Amino acid sequence: MTRKYSNLQIALHWAVVLLIVAQWWTADAIPRTHNPFLRPTMADLLQHKFHNYSGMTIGVLIALRVALRFLRKPGRLQITKGWRERAAECVHWGLYATLAAQAFTGFVASYMWAPAAGIHKAIWLVTMTLISIHVSAAIWHIARRDAVLARMLPCKRAP
Ligand code: HEM
Ligand code: HEM
Repeated sequence: MTRKYSNLQIALHWAVVLLIVAQWWTADAIPRTHNPFLRPTMADLLQHKFHNYSGMTIGVLIALRVALRFLRKPGRLQITKGWRERAAECVHWGLYATLAAQAFTGFVASYMWAPAAGIHKAIWLVTMTLISIHVSAAIWHIARRDAVLARMLPCKRAP
């Protein structure tokens, strides 16, 4: 059994990373477009629109990733067996859950019930905490030069 993620899983992982950076980048424009004392600029309106559609795209991609994860889970690595593997699983599933919840609450806040924006913002704090743990762990594996990062990179042979 291969210990690598498939090319589609790898492409989706990095596409979602880029879209999350875009979400963070565009989010500030939204309150400006809602401010009754400010005339929204074209750039703010475009960023608001981008945030909504990119966020919905993240929701769809997360559903696809979870389905792929059930269909094709890469083999385990000897070096991460034990508590590290369990911790990684918790963070990965936490990321899937918070990102799905954020796409959902963002949609509800924008089109159905504005107060859901408070929940949307609160979930972002949890997502950011999980991303920090995840990226710190990835950097730790890069520093150790072990096989973990290669699992999520294209064109590298399976570890
Ligand atoms: C996983 C996908 C998403 C991420 C990571 C994300 C991220 C963010 C972030 C970081 C903020 C600013 C939070 C803050 O100021 O503390 C925000 C605000 C907002 N987002 Fe999203 N978002 C996502 C999906 C969506 C979707 C799908 C919609 C609408 C269709 C949406 C609508 C909004 C709105 C309306 C606000 C402004 C809330 C306010 O300031 O009152 N978001 N989002
Ligand atoms: C917005 C930021 C990120 C999010 C939301 C995210 C999310 C995820 C998720 C959910 C998984 C689990 C995949 C699965 O098993 O289904 C994963 C795996 C992985 N990610 Fe990220 N990721 C992010 C950024 C990064 C960065 C910046 C790196 C590298 C520096 C990275 C490296 C990896 C690696 C190596 C794996 C495979 C771990 C393993 O084999 O157990 N990720 N990521």
